[in-house]
Amino acid sequence: MPWMLFRWMREPAAVLEECRARYGETFTIRIGAMPPLVILSNPEHTREVFASAGDDMHGGKIAEALRPFLGDRSVIVLDGAPHRAMRKLVMPPFHGERMHAYGRDMVELTHASIDRWPVGKVFPIHEPLQGITLDVILRTVFGMDDAAERERLGTQLTKLTHLASWPPMLLPQVQRDLGPWSPWGRFLRESKIADEALLGEIARRRSGGTDGRTDILSMFVNVRDEDGRGLDDQDLRDQLVTLLVAGHETTATALAWTLRWVLALPAVRNRLLAEIQSAQLAGALTPERIAKLEYLDATVREALRLQPVIPLVGRVLQQPLRFAGYDLPAGVALAPSVHLVHQNPSVYQNPKLFEPERFIGRQYKAHEWIPFGGGIRKCVGMAFALYEMKMVLATLLSRVWLRAAPGYTAHAVRRSITLTPSEGMPVIVDAVLPRGALETAAA
Ligand code: HEM
Repeated sequence: MPWMLFRWMREPAAVLEECRARYGETFTIRIGAMPPLVILSNPEHTREVFASAGDDMHGGKIAEALRPFLGDRSVIVLDGAPHRAMRKLVMPPFHGERMHAYGRDMVELTHASIDRWPVGKVFPIHEPLQGITLDVILRTVFGMDDAAERERLGTQLTKLTHLASWPPMLLPQVQRDLGPWSPWGRFLRESKIADEALLGEIARRRSGGTDGRTDILSMFVNVRDEDGRGLDDQDLRDQLVTLLVAGHETTATALAWTLRWVLALPAVRNRLLAEIQSAQLAGALTPERIAKLEYLDATVREALRLQPVIPLVGRVLQQPLRFAGYDLPAGVALAPSVHLVHQNPSVYQNPKLFEPERFIGRQYKAHEWIPFGGGIRKCVGMAFALYEMKMVLATLLSRVWLRAAPGYTAHAVRRSITLTPSEGMPVIVDAVLPRGALETAAA
């Protein structure tokens, strides 16, 4: 039904809540050319989906609309054995001690962005947050150290993601090249320019060597599977675009939502500021110190619970399955709803309230807190994103006095597959402290 497609595009969370109230915890929705989605809101059903090894249920098929943007070899669109193999190659750099090294770049790039923010004027903060998360990916993943080159490629990639974020671009009917003025035609031409730059970056890394480099592209260039096979240029190009698309808008949006709550709730803001200031008084606000801040961590997790950036994940059945009391045919998708699982009152008391305290001293199970999906398709960048959110927020709150623009009330709007705060979340900066001001005063 066209109206259903229209409403789904505009307000998926409201559609999900209405359907659950009307049809119960499990129901089916049909949207455009997508497989029918069997929406799951019971965490136990979510656990069963995440337990799949990936041959009976395909997560790549649900992301089919992203294939023209990401490429055929993207880890997101692969399934079965090829997916497992690609995931094994791309996962390792996203864990462990390496995070602290990326943390230094995350903090530094946040400072550089803050230095350019206007004081006393209303501006949408989603945009500079996107600038930070884009810069972080270009530096830590692509390994681009030169700010001017990052700016050049970043501008081209922003143009592309801007074109791609118009929701109808995901529809096969719109994905037709009707010349340079058609939306898809324009996208293809801009994409070609970006690809040339990306392949140039890959060639430079191959020829220039990777000794002593910590960026993720350098690691991808050297990675080998059990048979000694590495990633070719097309593999590398597709993973770079994937990490950029999957990692920058999502993290910027999650940051904007977190700020929406922090700025609206003085008790939360004051507790955060007190925690950050006590870390500053203990010495410099290093990534290692920020990563240990308990209330900051809880705030980020609560923001991702209350306002998930991606409202559902999906797996397309490859064979008929009896599930949750229903006989389901092959071709339908089981779709754990991140939004509905996070609103389940038997897991989260007062689920509509923003209460970071619920995450202190308690770890929710992997099928109860699912902003990054789960199982063998769980977000590759989860640790990276959580780390980055904490680095950016602590740096920002330690220097910038800001508030929401007067009269602003946020509601969620769709940008491609993410739900972002309306109007880019307008704020006013009242004052900006110099870098390290509190540490210097305390010394
Ligand atoms: C707050 C920020 C982020 C959110 C909310 C988020 C959320 C998600 C979700 C819901 C999925 C689908 C999981 C599933 O189907 O079970 C996913 C997959 C993925 N994400 Fe993220 N993500 C974020 C940041 C990142 C970052 C920073 C990167 C990398 C730099 C990244 C890379 C990926 C990749 C490669 C996949 C595909 C995994 C696969 O199919 O095996 N994401 N993400």
